[in-house]
Amino acid sequence: MTTFWSVYVTVLTLGTIFALTWLLLSTRKGQREETTSETVGHAFDGIEEYDNPLPKWWFWLFVGTIFFALGYLALYPGLGNWKGILPGYAYLDNDKQAEFSDGQAGWSGVHEWEKEMAKADARFGPIFAKFAAMPIEEVAKDPQALKMGGRLFASNCSVCHGSDAKGAYGFPNLTDNDWRWGGEPETIKASIMNGRHGVMPAWAEVLGEQGVADVAAFVLTNMDGRRLPEGINADPAKGKAIFASSCVACHGPEGKGTPAMGAPNLTHPQAFIYGSSFAQLQQTIRYGRQGQMPAQAQLQGNDRVHLLAAYVYSLSHTPEAGDKSE
Ligand code: HEC
Ligand code: HEC
Repeated sequence: MTTFWSVYVTVLTLGTIFALTWLLLSTRKGQREETTSETVGHAFDGIEEYDNPLPKWWFWLFVGTIFFALGYLALYPGLGNWKGILPGYAYLDNDKQAEFSDGQAGWSGVHEWEKEMAKADARFGPIFAKFAAMPIEEVAKDPQALKMGGRLFASNCSVCHGSDAKGAYGFPNLTDNDWRWGGEPETIKASIMNGRHGVMPAWAEVLGEQGVADVAAFVLTNMDGRRLPEGINADPAKGKAIFASSCVACHGPEGKGTPAMGAPNLTHPQAFIYGSSFAQLQQTIRYGRQGQMPAQAQLQGNDRVHLLAAYVYSLSHTPEAGDKSE
């Protein structure tokens, strides 16, 4: 920060604190000392205010916050270029700035995070590197790797995919064998590394409301053991024709999906992430969907993603999980 901005910030910050102190003390002057039953003289909807002084504890709380602010600004960087008395912030002006990705010096949340990551890399890097050199199927059998992968999953993936990885509305289940983009070890890794963006076009304008209902009826009845609800005005036979002309390009002739496009299998009720009821199917077809899996390459790097891929792979390849694809 240039000297001008440093002085500007300092004057503004200290000026505000002193102005507030003055305000507190000046309004206190001339106030009565004792409590009273007199009121200040105005009433709002019959509610009146006693003309009492500020409670003492309240006043001292204010004073406390002022001292806290001054103490804080002395200890930590906050006033322009002032580095604070506490050690640990002292590297503000030394030449360590090259260590940080933004090329800036000084304390910042990002720099603290980068320091933590560098420390963790020094400690765990060799272990990560060892697993990164092994094929994913092998890593997926190593208890230590799965433990580390599980921790990475819990802190980076469970917000969307759930702590049990079974997914939620809009987020796919990673423990079964219904893959939108493919379940090969390297494909899973690519999904995590580069992210995925599923684009299901909107059909309302192309097909009209009746066409949407018909094709939704076909998708529904095409699933094992599903029947159309009573009294629905939709024709699955017409829907089948629409599907053949408008949907097979992505979802395949039998509706079993095309992993290269992230077009899901439409024959397994449990494979739907946006719901498989008649109403939900119409909603999806009418307006389209845009599922986004955020890329992890920048955030995690290759070695961590390798472990994550092994962990995800292991979830559908345990002896208990078996093959759920049929
Ligand atoms: C912000 C939410 C979000 C986070 C965080 C997230 N994902 Fe995803 N993930 C998604 C969505 C949404 C999809 C489905 C994309 C689509 O519609 O095709 C997905 C898809 C996937 C797929 C492909 C599934 C398939 O069926 O092919 C894998 C594998 C995956 N995620 C793993 C992970 C891992 C591992 C992490 C943690 C590093 C993670 N995800 C973090 C939202 C998220
Ligand atoms: C351009 C390729 C493409 C075409 C054409 C297409 N889809 Fe899709 N569809 C997708 C993709 C990709 C997804 C996944 C979207 C996501 O993950 O957010 C999808 C998702 C869906 C889903 C939701 C599945 C779920 O997980 O809940 C349904 C239902 C669906 N499509 C039905 C249809 C029907 C019916 C048609 C024909 C009218 C059609 N799609 C045409 C690519 C396509």
